[in-house]
Amino acid sequence: MELLVTGSAGFIGSNYVTRHLAKFNNHSIVSLDQLTYAGNLENLKVVMNNPRHHFVNGDIRDKPLVDNLVSKNPDVIINFAAESHVDRSIDYPEKFLSTNTIGAYTLLEAARKYDIPQFVQISTDEVYGSLSTTDPAFTENTTLSPSSPYSASKAAADLLAISYYKTYNTPVKVTRCSNNYGPNQFPEKIIPLFINNLLNNKPLPIYGTGENVRDWIHVYDHCDAIDAVLLNGRSGQIYNIGGGTEKQNLEVADNLIKVMGSSPSLIKFISDRPGHDLRYAMDCSKIYNELKWTPKIKFESGLIDTIEWYKNNVTWLKNITNGSYRNYYDKMYGDR
Ligand code: NAD
Ligand code: TYD
Repeated sequence: MELLVTGSAGFIGSNYVTRHLAKFNNHSIVSLDQLTYAGNLENLKVVMNNPRHHFVNGDIRDKPLVDNLVSKNPDVIINFAAESHVDRSIDYPEKFLSTNTIGAYTLLEAARKYDIPQFVQISTDEVYGSLSTTDPAFTENTTLSPSSPYSASKAAADLLAISYYKTYNTPVKVTRCSNNYGPNQFPEKIIPLFINNLLNNKPLPIYGTGENVRDWIHVYDHCDAIDAVLLNGRSGQIYNIGGGTEKQNLEVADNLIKVMGSSPSLIKFISDRPGHDLRYAMDCSKIYNELKWTPKIKFESGLIDTIEWYKNNVTWLKNITNGSYRNYYDKMYGDR
């Protein structure tokens, strides 16, 4: 099988490409990434010299480039490429619409033109919006109600992808996953940000009360779920993917502080994120029943391994935090 994978130098894309090539020794991957602030070729170092992997530096909105890559008739396009951070979407919504929605459109158009046998759109539970503490978990039929420009741009892409299936018979599948953690995650998302801060004895900024709940899944489990959908999922279908581990942000912070032997006094409550969703929770019975996929990595052990990974990759962290991320961090937290 030949795959065209976009967003391959980011957190989940890089784990996916590396893991997929190791799992399937007769598969090859062309991977496309614009190398924005979040894309890092270091993340792909294990596969950069693999003859079954070819990296292309480019933009999913670049029609001639996308046309050229898709004209080579890959068996599947998997679209991970996105602007992925909610806080940035509050400051720069246009970028999110452009990459997440128009970028997905550009890929879908090429898939339609060249009759690509499969298109997997990687999406998020955030398209469903927010739950109260007592609401039932999201199912694939939950009404979309996104709260941020990030989740709205992803929801638009999901709807467009499904419309391509209904209108043109483009064999699209959509996966919606909960919050990922693990190696290679850019240290702006809560878990790597807090690990980095604790390594440097810096405060942990908690938005609002810290009672917001996220469902956590290890990135390796997410990658395996995508393979299950790729190999055995049905076209035109949406699959929820979750870790079955709901945690309040304060619990996550406490957990990190405990494992890293730091002081609880580093917790610092700051003003809340505008439009902050209270709770995400996933009903994954569809993927469990239909594709027999279940998450394997327990949050507690996955978190310990993730902390170890960041401790063993301080140069990776330093290279990032000395670069463009530095300005962003100062802007976000410097004046609070
Ligand atoms: P990330 O920000 O770490 O990586 C995104 C990658 O996309 C980067 O390498 C970046 O360079 C690339 N990119 C951005 N714009 C591009 C463009 N126009 N053309 C080509 N490449 C471009 O994000 P991530 O956390 O790895 O997320 C990957 C996908 O998974 C996204 O679609 C995201 O919505 C989805 N998702 C993420 C999570 C999560 O917890 N991180 C959960 C569910 C779904
Ligand atoms: P984040 O990692 O940005 O993921 P998402 O917004 O996509 O769920 O945030 C996870 C949760 O952590 C969310 O409720 C916001 C909160 N949060 C903080 O309290 N402090 C922070 O510095 C960050 C980045 C997030």
